Amino acid sequence: MSETAANPVPQHVAVIMDGNGRWAKERHLPRLAGHNAGAKAVERTLKAAKKAGVKILTLYAFSTENWSRPQDEINGLFKLLEQTLDRYTQDAAKHGVRLLVSGAREPLPPSILAKIDHAVSSTQANTGLTLNLALNYGARQEILHAVNALLAQGKTQATLQDISNHLYQPQLPDPELIIRTSGEERLSNFLLWQAAYSEFYFTPVLWPDFDETEFNKALAAYRGRKRRFGGV
Ligand code: FPP
Repeated sequence: MSETAANPVPQHVAVIMDGNGRWAKERHLPRLAGHNAGAKAVERTLKAAKKAGVKILTLYAFSTENWSRPQDEINGLFKLLEQTLDRYTQDAAKHGVRLLVSGAREPLPPSILAKIDHAVSSTQANTGLTLNLALNYGARQEILHAVNALLAQGKTQATLQDISNHLYQPQLPDPELIIRTSGEERLSNFLLWQAAYSEFYFTPVLWPDFDETEFNKALAAYRGRKRRFGGV
């Protein structure tokens, strides 16, 4: 492998959790059964990340494009999200998890927005792992939101730092590693700005089957990558 020292454990790992539907289909189950199993994989991944020393985990839970899914699947996904938010808010203190939510507020229902706000505010002082849920998230929308915020300030010219400062979570470092499950190899409007120098790890494993072993495989692959940031 490389002669350079191995990369340290990434501070920030982002995951495109894909393959819930195919996992369910293989078992002749409804798609929602795949999402339920996916929620369990979220918990395993949180534990694995914490154990490995990762500080921030960004998970793509619902994209701005996911509204085109059948209404009953959307309803089921949001029910699952509400349950998860409730549980994490209760358990967060115990585990020290700080919850952040990234995405557009429109057109999320007020009940979900209230739960998000409560979950975020009641965990903000926690100093353990940061779980950043990308919910109703689209990266192009995020960049547009930053540009519009700058225009509203009267700026006629922006710097790279100006745009970074107006993303949904300007305080977070860019993810060093982005994982996508289920064999698909694309970004799908996820973290376009922040991924400029991220390493990518693709695995055929479907999200509901993802676990600590798989997470550690991704970290091991990252450890051996040569990161040049445009240099030589
Ligand atoms: C992609 O699988 C997954 C999603 C669109 C939703 C992700 C949601 C979860 C993992 C469950 C809940 C998460 C939290 C944080 C509570 P897909 O449906 O696109 O699968 P397919 O490509 O096989 O159809």
